[in-house]
Amino acid sequence: MIRLTDSFRILNTTLMKHTVYKLFSTLLLLFFVFSCHNKDRVYTVSSPDGHNELEFSLTDLGQPQYRLNHNTKAVILPSLMGFEFVEQARLHENFEVLEVLYSQLDTTWQQPWGEFKTVSNSYKELTVKLQEQTDSARVLHVVFRVFNDGLGFRYEFPEQPNLKTFKIANELTQFTFPQDHDVWWIPVHSENSYYESFYRKNKISETDTLNTPATFQTKDSLYVALHEANLTDYASMTLLHKEGHQYEADLVPWADGVKVYAQAPFKTPWRTLIVGDTPGDLVTSTLMLNLNEPNKIEDVSWIEPSKYIGIWWGMHLEKYTWGQGDRHGATTENTKSYIDFAAAHNFDGVLVEGWNYGWDGDWTADGTAFSFTKAYPDFDLEEVTKYAAMKNVRLIGHHETAGASQHYEKQLDSAFKLYHRLGVNAVKTGYVNKYLDKKEWHDGQYGVRHYRKVIETAARYNIMIDNHEPVKGTGLQRTYPNLMTQEGARGQEYNAWSADGGNTPEHTTIMPFTRMLSGPFDFTPGNFDFDYKTPNGAMVQTTLAKQLALYVVLFSPLQMASDLPENYLKHPDAFQFVKEVPAIWSTTEVLDSRIGEYVVMARKDWQETNWYLGAITNRNSRQLTVSLSFLDANKRYKATVYADGTEAHYKSNPYPVEISSMEVTRESVLDLQLAAGGGTAVKFSPID
Ligand code: NOJ
Repeated sequence: MIRLTDSFRILNTTLMKHTVYKLFSTLLLLFFVFSCHNKDRVYTVSSPDGHNELEFSLTDLGQPQYRLNHNTKAVILPSLMGFEFVEQARLHENFEVLEVLYSQLDTTWQQPWGEFKTVSNSYKELTVKLQEQTDSARVLHVVFRVFNDGLGFRYEFPEQPNLKTFKIANELTQFTFPQDHDVWWIPVHSENSYYESFYRKNKISETDTLNTPATFQTKDSLYVALHEANLTDYASMTLLHKEGHQYEADLVPWADGVKVYAQAPFKTPWRTLIVGDTPGDLVTSTLMLNLNEPNKIEDVSWIEPSKYIGIWWGMHLEKYTWGQGDRHGATTENTKSYIDFAAAHNFDGVLVEGWNYGWDGDWTADGTAFSFTKAYPDFDLEEVTKYAAMKNVRLIGHHETAGASQHYEKQLDSAFKLYHRLGVNAVKTGYVNKYLDKKEWHDGQYGVRHYRKVIETAARYNIMIDNHEPVKGTGLQRTYPNLMTQEGARGQEYNAWSADGGNTPEHTTIMPFTRMLSGPFDFTPGNFDFDYKTPNGAMVQTTLAKQLALYVVLFSPLQMASDLPENYLKHPDAFQFVKEVPAIWSTTEVLDSRIGEYVVMARKDWQETNWYLGAITNRNSRQLTVSLSFLDANKRYKATVYADGTEAHYKSNPYPVEISSMEVTRESVLDLQLAAGGGTAVKFSPID
């Protein structure tokens, strides 16, 4: 076996000393080309810090395979790659390596919003150009990028005579784990079509087909998240459990069984493996964002991360209806009162659901009655938006489609145009139906194309999107920063009507390490009332203090205060935290965590002034000691602590919140007492 890494390292070191290189040290692209035809070669590339190492080789049959190590630990054992097509031979063996390219990048970029203001993008890349040694001589490129936080790889089909338009029947990428690790996962389509399942923890051998992100805790104490980045004009990847500890990519099909319709030149999304020593390393990874294209929206001045309230929870509690009638929620009068509340308490937006025609009857069964421009008679859109503008508040628009995506696409331009004219700059979209257009999955190539069309069209009208019942996030917000947030998980709404009683106290202690790895989540925290009655007996299973802490733990640049205004007025002191907590962060740290048990996070606001801390626990109470060493050096802070009161308990006594303040520095430690199902939220503001 010949290893090419060493020659690469020597060349690299020589170059690093070069003055010109130093001048341009933030951006370095080096190309090394090797012509090699030997099947016995192993091509390796390591992360900039040397901890992750990727190996590529061909098997005796000329099948491409890769493996990944983290220091001395095997993360992925040799795993095959390739494709099956409809009406064409498989593309997975008889390959020879035509050419190998090595390059690297070390740069940073700025986000218009996020969990980090500045993102470091530093990787080493290996491109392997393969050609079949058969008459068809088809060509396939595989590109690997190895980061300090993991690996991304993708396939590229260059333009070529024997592969022009093609239909992918299966992607054959394998992920072979060395042992029967634990995995936190949700199933695919069996419970619902848009990821609204409880995460469960099993051994790999006990699983079936998984959605991604799927998060593994390895036998040798690593944390590995398997997902994808930049899902563009392709089907979502799910993971089919094969024998042993192996998964194979299982693309979500079209109704006709084809997985992907493609035409060369063509690139697949990146397959991603985040690798960390702690669960927190997964949370702070920026690998997915780095594997997306840079921002395509030139002027981002209209993109405004913000907090909102809405005529929403009332519908889920059946206090109001979306459709017309005595209890219609979206009336001009009711909306104005919400606008007044928003203006009085510093919220930027008011979401109004049920304002437009199409909700009467069973709207979930058929969305073709929805009009996205015609308001119900008791809702005066012009008047309401004028009133909102006067109060310096914006209406947040709503487009529920019930999965009728074609019907929606026909109205997209006129609907966004109308909102844009009225100063509405954010729209919540929804797709409540098992299928799109009665037969296609939300997360197949069909859905991927539809959602992209909505984001791109919205951008042309300066409109931000909050997408419910989405295709999972893959970091597209880097390219389209108007894609603010998505649902794609069990949100607060389950606490209103779910037959299983609502979200368990564990649910939100798993989210940061699973669902949140795919991007912002419109969970809609902020429930302040634990005495409502619903037919199914569903209930919020947290303390009030935990609801506050969720604002720090669950990132969403459009962040909702979801409860009814009157419930906030009953707890003005605790409400103060909801009013003050930001929706975006200049930096983020995970201070302590165990998946499914607890998490403590610290985040600094976008202005880089105040720090916030959120700590949440599952159904067990716990005591944690947290070092405040994340605070800025040489500064004194006033810490305002919103903790569970004595005797607080998510089931029997959720309300007590004890608010205290103290002076702290980065040398201080904070003792946290979290009640069962509880949490603590803290604001740290510098003293002068
Ligand atoms: C489901 C969404 O998740 C929820 O937020 C919305 O209120 C309903 N659909 C109606 O569109």
